[in-house]
This record gives sequence, structure tokens and C-alpha cells, in this order.
Amino acid sequence: MSLVAPVRGGILEPMDGERIVVRRSGPLQGEVRVPGAKNSVLKLMAAALLADGVYELTNVPDIVDVGIMGELLGAIGVRCDLLADGTLRLENTGQITPVAPYELVERIRASINVLGPLLGRFGQVTVALPGGDDFGSRPIDMHIRGLEAMGAEFELDHGDVMARIATGTGRLHGTDIVLDFPSVGATENLLMAAVHAKGETVIHHAAREPEIQDLCTMLVGMGAVIDGIGTSTLTIDGVAPGELHATSHRVVPDRIQAATYMAAVGVCGGEVVVRDARHHHMEHVLARFARMGLETSVGPDSITVGRDARLRSVDLATLPYPGIATDYKPLLVTMLTVADGVGIVTENLYPGRFRYVEELQRLGADVRTDGHHAVVRGVPALSGAPVKAPDIRAGAALVVAGLAAVGSTSVQGVHHIDRGYEDLVGRLSSIGADVERVAV
Ligand code: UD1
Repeated sequence: MSLVAPVRGGILEPMDGERIVVRRSGPLQGEVRVPGAKNSVLKLMAAALLADGVYELTNVPDIVDVGIMGELLGAIGVRCDLLADGTLRLENTGQITPVAPYELVERIRASINVLGPLLGRFGQVTVALPGGDDFGSRPIDMHIRGLEAMGAEFELDHGDVMARIATGTGRLHGTDIVLDFPSVGATENLLMAAVHAKGETVIHHAAREPEIQDLCTMLVGMGAVIDGIGTSTLTIDGVAPGELHATSHRVVPDRIQAATYMAAVGVCGGEVVVRDARHHHMEHVLARFARMGLETSVGPDSITVGRDARLRSVDLATLPYPGIATDYKPLLVTMLTVADGVGIVTENLYPGRFRYVEELQRLGADVRTDGHHAVVRGVPALSGAPVKAPDIRAGAALVVAGLAAVGSTSVQGVHHIDRGYEDLVGRLSSIGADVERVAV
């Protein structure tokens, strides 16, 4: 099936006519499997721009963002088909137009990830400035500075970023790049540009998220030469365009979705086996869960999580990996709203990422925010109300909050959740949560 059409679940277009209705639930019991990571698969798809051929990505989540990224790649010249077994087939025939149009880019922040591979391989690219989740300013200055250091020149014209290689060689050149901050997107773009640069590129202070390690592994499978995978210094020995080849790759499991089901057990109690959760990708958040009173035991490809007494409050701060990811934070704040005590939460990555707090307050949560900080005083129970999901992770957190709320909670903005969660409602129901999708 082509991704120009709706993806498998038929959820490509926002369904604002739907709500997720949640009632107080628990204890939760059973098993839930975590699919592949959104924040990995979107970049792996962009990597298919780097070499002609047929790629197979497996463990691909059936989410709206995969559909949008598939449309974007289709417009550039890579055909994407999502098969029923979660395999995404991408065909790059070499007929590439290195232009990412605004209509698609504005729907998904990860579209900026086509900048590096297209520039590195074709020497020029036009990308509309990206959109994506609306949680504050998300500039791309580090992407641009790094690519400039490799020999690119940029022009901004009517909202489009146009880049080309300044020198006559037709190739970027390797260099030392020091990122001001370990930006996930900048690291990925520079990596995908550097695989075709002439000579050696060293990215210092690189992001080390598991999803970046996943991208490096796929690039190596395509013939790229990368040293330091999983560390904050990545050394890339560039190869000439034409020397990379298509590959097959299994998408790393989604640690944020894994944490979502753990947070659900946190607020509802019970015991659930979260399959395909990788504990070594979640060490800091698991340690924080443990301090809050969640019991976890780790198996080879699963984490069992249980809770039988009230959660305890903790303080926490978001940090780049291996610290506590900003994407976990709405879930952790939700857990704190019903925990015993007071927790102080500090957001170090995005200024606007407390917007969902107003929605939690509608459910009776006692949360006060001041700039980058939130003070969360736990209450014995929340109280169901209509709320609105402002973005993917906050949307999932509001569903989890509804599980701890007396009465019924109706979550609007379901299309945000569909962007990043494959069948959140089905998975929660399968472990005993009282949750359903309803048309209104
Ligand atoms: C990715 C994830 C997102 C996650 C974030 C941080 C995807 C699709 N999204 O986003 O879910 O929350 O990592 O873990 O993978 N910044 C700059 N200049 C730049 C680049 C970034 O100032 O050139 C700032 C951003 O505005 C933000 C911070 O750095 O405040 C983190 O951004 P970055 O790590 O790049 O996140 P994304 O790749 O956008």
C-alpha cells in the first residue's frame, strides 16, 4: 500500500471528530508490546535518500507521522509502502527532486532530516522551514552552522532554506564540528551529510540517544564508516556518493511508549510485562520510577513493572540522553499529581513544555509553574473532565491521567496522539484500562 494513501490504520488525516474517553482504572494486569520508535524510524526513512535501491525497515510503528514522512519522501522521489506486518519498504530509484515542500514539511518537524542527506548526496537542497509539535521555539541554527563548516552555503527565501555546496568539488568536506548543545536533530543531519563528505568529520558534543545509535547502525549497514557510536564524539569517514547501498534494518523499540505503559501502572497499580522495552535505554527514568515506588524487574527483552502502594513524590530535571528525556516529562508530572508529597520538575530543553499543565489542573491536579520549573503537590485522586491534548506526549499523559481520575475524562486532539502512538487505546485496554475511542 502506498503511503500517499492513508496508512494501515487509515489514520493519516486528523480525526477531530473523535475523543478518547477514559475512566478510573486498575489494577492493570497482563502484557503489552512496545512497537518501534517514532523518533528513530523517521530518520531511518530519511537515510533512504542516501543510496539507490530497495530498503526494508521492520518493527515500523503504524502512526500518522510515518505516513506524513512517507508522503514527503514520495514527493522527493522515494516510494514508501507500509506492509501489514510492520515492514516498511522504501524504493529509491535515483529519480530524486531535492525539494521538501512547505505543505508536507509544516506537518512534521522531522522533515528537517532530509536536509543533510540531500545536500551531502546531491550538492543542493531546498527545505521549507519545519513545523511539528507546538512547544516553543525550535530553531535549526546548529544544523546550519555545522553544514556551513562542511562547505555549504545557505539562503533563506520566502520561508524556504536553500542550501548548496559552495566549493566546486560537488562534495562537502570533512571537518571538526563542536555542537553548542547535543541536539538530536542537528547530530542526525550532520551525520547524514558527513557520510558523503570528502575526508573525516568529527562531531563533538553529539547527541547519544538510542535513536541516534539506531541511525548509525543503519548507516553502517549501508556501508558508511562511523566510529564512536553511542558516544558524544562521532567520527565519520566520508565515502563518495554511489558507494553506499540500500539495506534492511529493524527499528529500535520506543522507550517513550514503554514508559507510557509503566506510568499507567504507576497511577493504576497492578503488574504488567512491557515487552520489547530495553532497560539499558531507560536507566535514569527507571531509577526515578523506582524512587517513586514502582517495582521493576528486567528480562532479556521485557521489563515487568508493578506497584501496590501509593506513589511517592520525587524531584526531577530533564536532560539530553542518558538523562531523563523531555518526552518522558508529561508522564512523570502526571504520576506526581497523584503521588504522596511534593515534586519539583525542571525542564532544561524546551521553554514551552508545560502547556499541558493547565489541562492537568482541569482534572484537579495541584501544579504550579514558574518558567522552567513546576511544583507538583500530589492529591489522592484526580477528577474526570474534558481536556485537550496539546502534543503527542502530553496527549498520552492526559490519557494516563484520566486513568487516575474519578468519573470520566474525555481527551480531545486525538490526532496528536495518533502521530506517535500505535493503538494506545487498544494497548491500554488489553491490560485492563477502561478507555475507548468514541466518535462525537
Ligand atoms: C527530538 C525529538 C523530540 C525530543 C527532542 C529532545 C524527533 C522527531 N523529535 O527533537 O521528540 O523532545 O529530540 O530529546 O526525534 N536547538 C537549537 N538549535 C538547533 C537545534 C536545536 O537551539 O539547531 C534547541 C531546540 O530548540 C530545543 C533543544 O535544542 O530547545 C533540543 O532540540 P533537539 O535535540 O534538536 O530536538 P529535536 O531533534 O527537534
